[in-house]
Amino acid sequence: MITALVVGADKGIARSIADQLHARGDRVVAACLGSGADRAADGGEVVPDVDVTSGEAVARLAQTLRDRQIALDWVLHVAGVLGLDTLGEIDYDDVRRQLEINTIGPLRTVEAVAPLVVDGGKVGIVTSRVGSLGDNTSGGMYAYRVSKAGANMVALNLHHDLSVREISVLALHPGMVATDLTKDYPGDYAYITPEEAAAGLVKDLDNLTPENSGRFQHSNGTFLPW
Ligand SMILES: NC(=O)c1ccc[n+]([C@@H]2O[C@H](COP(=O)([O-])OP(=O)(O)OC[C@H]3O[C@@H](n4cnc5c(N)ncnc54)[C@H](OP(=O)(O)O)[C@@H]3O)[C@@H](O)[C@H]2O)c1
Repeated sequence: MITALVVGADKGIARSIADQLHARGDRVVAACLGSGADRAADGGEVVPDVDVTSGEAVARLAQTLRDRQIALDWVLHVAGVLGLDTLGEIDYDDVRRQLEINTIGPLRTVEAVAPLVVDGGKVGIVTSRVGSLGDNTSGGMYAYRVSKAGANMVALNLHHDLSVREISVLALHPGMVATDLTKDYPGDYAYITPEEAAAGLVKDLDNLTPENSGRFQHSNGTFLPW
């Protein structure tokens, strides 16, 4: 049994990850942007009002974990947003919003809770293949691509800094997943379910060792180019 912190657990892929870990007997602390009331009603352990753009909220999350004397085996930062901007119509306030949530969010959160992660623990940051420099063949989505490329660097940097404590870190791509995030995404894709994505991401973390730390992995198990 492990203890896992799942950030952004209100819905979507994060919620499925929390459900699956809970179902197999792990202890899950669900950090939710909202109240997480339905999770709490089902007996789940929730920290509400965790907006990853707020230093105060993230510090409160870390303090809550300390107060509950929780040592974390896993941290999964899943919270994120998607904007569909195009060149000529970029809204720079929205660029800043996506950077705050998608890039600074995981850095702020993992920095705050890293002292509570056990030596030999695991950190997964859900970024996106769209943030891969090597895989960008189509352009568009400036803010999202840049924010997720930045999140990939956050993950790689954390790998280096946390390796002294044998904490392993992955940047993770969930696949093309049918969630609220992708409901307006243009084009036809063979979407997988949040449950399928979550199962793959949990498997990636299960298989994570210091030897394959510092890489970018798909929920289907393959490794992706930065
Ligand atoms: N779906 C895909 O195909 C796909 C592909 C590649 C990468 N991803 C990445 O996977 C992650 C999860 O996406 P999803 O598809 O599950 O989307 P989703 O269903 O929209 O879930 C996103 C979650 O992030 C939370 N969130 C948003 N802003 C937040 C903030 N400031 N602080 C804390 N939590 C916040 C949302 O809370 P509320 O419910 O309260 O808004 C929600 O629980 C994201 O990082 C996304 O970029 C998804």
